[in-house]
Amino acid sequence: MTAAGSHSFFATCPRGLESVLARELAALGAREVASSEGGARFAGAFPLCYAANLESRVASRVLWRVGASPYRNEDEVYAAARALPWPRWFSPEHTIRVALTAIRSPLRSLDFTTLRIKDAVCDRFRAECGRRPSVDTRAPDIRIHAFLDAREVMLYLDTSGEALFKRGYRRQAGEAPLRENLAAGILSLAGWAPGTPLLDPMCGSGTIVIEAALTALDIAPGLARAFAFEKLSHFDAAVWRELKRRAQARRKAVRPLSIWGSDTSRAALDDARVNLASLGIERAVTLVHANALDLSPPAPAGTIITNPPYGVRLDQQQKLAVFYPRLGDALKRNFAGWTAYVLSADAQLPKLIGLKASRRTPLYNGALECRLYEYRLVAGSMRRVKAARREE
Ligand SMILES: C[S@@+](CC[C@H](N)C(=O)[O-])C[C@H]1O[C@@H](n2cnc3c(N)ncnc32)[C@H](O)[C@@H]1O
Repeated sequence: MTAAGSHSFFATCPRGLESVLARELAALGAREVASSEGGARFAGAFPLCYAANLESRVASRVLWRVGASPYRNEDEVYAAARALPWPRWFSPEHTIRVALTAIRSPLRSLDFTTLRIKDAVCDRFRAECGRRPSVDTRAPDIRIHAFLDAREVMLYLDTSGEALFKRGYRRQAGEAPLRENLAAGILSLAGWAPGTPLLDPMCGSGTIVIEAALTALDIAPGLARAFAFEKLSHFDAAVWRELKRRAQARRKAVRPLSIWGSDTSRAALDDARVNLASLGIERAVTLVHANALDLSPPAPAGTIITNPPYGVRLDQQQKLAVFYPRLGDALKRNFAGWTAYVLSADAQLPKLIGLKASRRTPLYNGALECRLYEYRLVAGSMRRVKAARREE
């Protein structure tokens, strides 16, 4: 398999964002895009894979499919991996790590199977080059992913390296920061369009407002980082330079945007400032020290996207049980004309907000199951809710 021609790829993403990812990939020119749980398959030539890594705001990784074979036992998995021309794709000087995911696999020990795949890669290198790559589980140059279903083993080379939500701008992270690609996906699910007002009244280290500013300024999320595909033998540096040059040229001039973030924690706002500054876009977002309960709307209408605090301990839960109804009241009272999207990992707390959700979307922040609640805040809803409470 050479670099030229069409290849099969699989991009992974946080669960719940597969349709957003599929749309992004299609817009980049991917063919045969098909989403499935946790990602989307697509086909294209290598420059497309570079572009997906550089431009996708919601992908977590882009995997290049290098082999697929039926299997019944560990020996057949070994043979499938041994049959692939690994030394054509990277050199034995690079370090490797093998990761394995299995669904309904009949194999007993997945750790043992992972070791067998690593052995197969190393044996192929030894046979062809007289040397083998060493293993680095912490920061490998090359990541090999194996997916096993009931009958088939699929082998992938990871073209991303560090996960794509690590954009390289996060210098500071406060309390429970959102993954960058989840924040970007929520902006898309909410239908937020650059140029329209956006507010995160509990912005913490600023992930949502930063991802919004990057989108509005047309800054490719991968411009500031390196990728594993740069280490593959057939890496085309000229094509990559040109893709990056075009992405740089597309960037809009940094200017104040209708994007606002606020928080009660000065430390969190400092984190957000440091993160914005590391991208050179601090002028784009207005950060205000304020309590979400007393905040005045910065525009007559717009989109609120936020992930309020949630607690694990009982005392935190008790405080939040007081806070959520007050938040609901503040939104109704002050933000008529806005639409609010609230992300929560707690199934009970959003019920206390006292607003009727017009949409609930299940999403995952890492392994944590969350829901995105949509509230349309129409004028007069406060009166209706008070009346409903009186009737009760
Ligand atoms: C889960 S964190 C948000 C994390 C953020 N999305 C990020 O990516 O960094 C919740 C934030 O709400 C803030 N907060 C709590 N109560 C608040 C209130 N009444 N008004 C404004 N901010 C508040 C906390 O200081 C914290 O930064």
